[in-house]
Amino acid sequence: MKLSSYFLVTSMLIGFASHAYGVEPWKDTKLSRSERAKALVQAMTLDEKLQLINSQYALGSDIPQGAIGSAGYVAGIVRLGIPAQQITDAGLGVVNPGKVRPGDGTTGLPSGQIISGSFDGDLAHQVGVLLGQEAFHRGYNVLLGGGVVLVRDPRNGRNFEYLGEDPLLAGYTVAEEIQGTQSQHVISTVKHYAFNNYETNRLLLNMNIDEQAGRESDLLAFEIATKVGEPGSIMCAYNKVNGIYSCENSYLLQLPKKEWGFRGYVMTDWGAAHSTVAAAKAGLDQESAATKFDHKDYFGKPLKVAIQKNEVPMGRLDNMAYRIVYTMLRVGAYDYPASPSKLIEDVAAHEALSQKVAESGITLLKNDDQVLPLSANIKSIAIIGGHANEGVLSGGGSSQVTARGGNITLPDGPQKWPGPISYFPSSPMKAIQALAPNTKVNFNEGDNIDQAVELAKNSDVVIVFATKWSAEAFDNKDLKLPGNQNELIEAVEETGKPVVVVLETGNPVYMPWLKNVKAVVAAWYPGTSGGKAIANILYGKVNPSGRLTTTWPENLNQLPNSDLPGVGKIVNADPSFPIKHYPASKVVSDIDLNQAGANVGYRWFEKEKLTPLYPFGYGLSYTTFAYKNLQVNKLFGSDSHKLLAKVTVQNTGNRDGADVVQIYCKMPDGFPSRLCGYNKVFLKAGETQTVPVSLFAASLAHYIPSTHRWEIVPGFYEISVRQDALSNDRLTGALKMEEVNLPD
Ligand code: BGC
Repeated sequence: MKLSSYFLVTSMLIGFASHAYGVEPWKDTKLSRSERAKALVQAMTLDEKLQLINSQYALGSDIPQGAIGSAGYVAGIVRLGIPAQQITDAGLGVVNPGKVRPGDGTTGLPSGQIISGSFDGDLAHQVGVLLGQEAFHRGYNVLLGGGVVLVRDPRNGRNFEYLGEDPLLAGYTVAEEIQGTQSQHVISTVKHYAFNNYETNRLLLNMNIDEQAGRESDLLAFEIATKVGEPGSIMCAYNKVNGIYSCENSYLLQLPKKEWGFRGYVMTDWGAAHSTVAAAKAGLDQESAATKFDHKDYFGKPLKVAIQKNEVPMGRLDNMAYRIVYTMLRVGAYDYPASPSKLIEDVAAHEALSQKVAESGITLLKNDDQVLPLSANIKSIAIIGGHANEGVLSGGGSSQVTARGGNITLPDGPQKWPGPISYFPSSPMKAIQALAPNTKVNFNEGDNIDQAVELAKNSDVVIVFATKWSAEAFDNKDLKLPGNQNELIEAVEETGKPVVVVLETGNPVYMPWLKNVKAVVAAWYPGTSGGKAIANILYGKVNPSGRLTTTWPENLNQLPNSDLPGVGKIVNADPSFPIKHYPASKVVSDIDLNQAGANVGYRWFEKEKLTPLYPFGYGLSYTTFAYKNLQVNKLFGSDSHKLLAKVTVQNTGNRDGADVVQIYCKMPDGFPSRLCGYNKVFLKAGETQTVPVSLFAASLAHYIPSTHRWEIVPGFYEISVRQDALSNDRLTGALKMEEVNLPD
């Protein structure tokens, strides 16, 4: 039966029910959501359907009546009880662009490297709930969170919005976030679909990748996100994939709908639509902020004309509208409409959660002579650089949160979007002083190296805060710390005083001074409670347990796509301006992702036999852990296949702490090892536990394009517990797998 005639039959039946009970069918909570959604679509006029699938920009002078003010707005359909879609960014907190809600601050979460680096699904779920609550109380019902592009290059300016290089970890982490957000009646979005791995020239960039490689990497993260998290929406990206713009790429847009059971809608990124008929037929469901960003509202009048001419079947428009109202019903946005309320969130609890996430994901990279944790009895500490007396750095662009109390902005760097460079007012120095009231804590900004050295000489311990800003719309030119920071650290380290470096960066950086400093802490962008989290880690109030989710290369030559013309410049990035074409020779236009293919990050390093500075999964603790007794059980039934590993883990040090038990599977066909399971466990000093770790079947499988199936690779797998992805210190076992197809 065709979709349109199905609607007709259903609506006749529902029409009868509505008479019987005196309730409009779409309001009748006894009916299923799909029945209610079908009834709604049936009752809509053509113009109402078109209204629903076309959002408007809602900032500056463009705020439409009824909009709270945010990235996007769709007026509601009052007669049908459909609430307006109030659409806000983003994944690290509810933003307040252009101070559209004067005086309002929200919780800024730590960056994606920290959220995924905690390897803690429960925490990720709580992050999602927090985001949902802060959006809902402000009247927003669509959250543009959920960045799950794989980190293929440590220069990408938006890596701080993403969840690392591994598809399983990123996919499962974002799935938890999505579920958390949607439990608060707010639609969650995953983005940027797909292969938006660079910002340079993002509006015109073409990413080439073979089907199998794509399915086993970035698309696997989206597949897990979609199947497990069930997001209400997917945002298609700016870039082309295999020559076709993502938002009219039928391969990409049909995949979630046909293969992954996706019942939500696909919206464009802001300025990512390029056609009417092609996009509608490919499977696009909503055009975002069209008049401002697309310079033509493809899904407005042109779509109406295309439908009237039957170039796009009415059933397709019905399906777009259906997907949107069905999603509103599914997450409760229809029955529990969001509206700005005085009842705001529990601020203390939310800031505490942000701190907890930071404390769980910040990663200790080096700790010679156990210089950390610091003692509260140290007489004097020099704190140098990074505006540590005032706050912690955050990443820029559309995800930029405004903290409660406002952000501290810097006059250097871009003042216009994606700037200004902003710090959250959570000072690590103040938090350090609070933990060590008897220590003399002095600050030096670090601009003048001689003065900084003088202070270091007169102190017992030196903590240097080194920062590097990353933002949407451009990639980092290289991995160098900007300004004089390397010289500063080298000069301070030459005093012979013990030096601890705390990095606040959106990506890995070169550390030419690494050998000579005692300790390094990767604090990424640690969020609105970041100062306290850093201090707690430095003083051992919290034992660090974060692990890297991006392999940290020795140098850019180790990367598959090291040459990136135009990198570092804002090139064709702002969709609200007509595209500026840079001379083709000066800007990257095609990227061949097949060099690494599915072997992203640590898998590339294993395959190429390269040694990075730090691999995925790496991170130190103030205690030590030992593993023994690895077992793997196959629990294969007719409709589900489960693999369960168990390993005995002992905390062999004298401090309580959490370990991330990581299990890697080495493919029998020669493909590099893959993370196939993890479980974070807290152990008291000396404690031993047997830790269960579910293994993900997709890690043992290849996607076979000819059969459209994931197929387990038969043969013997080396299953090993490792402290990081490339560690040779492994507890290994073998697992024999038969030939078997995985259920869809
Ligand atoms: C970004 C999206 C964001 C949207 C709305 C775009 O430029 O790529 O991530 O959600 O703007 O602000």
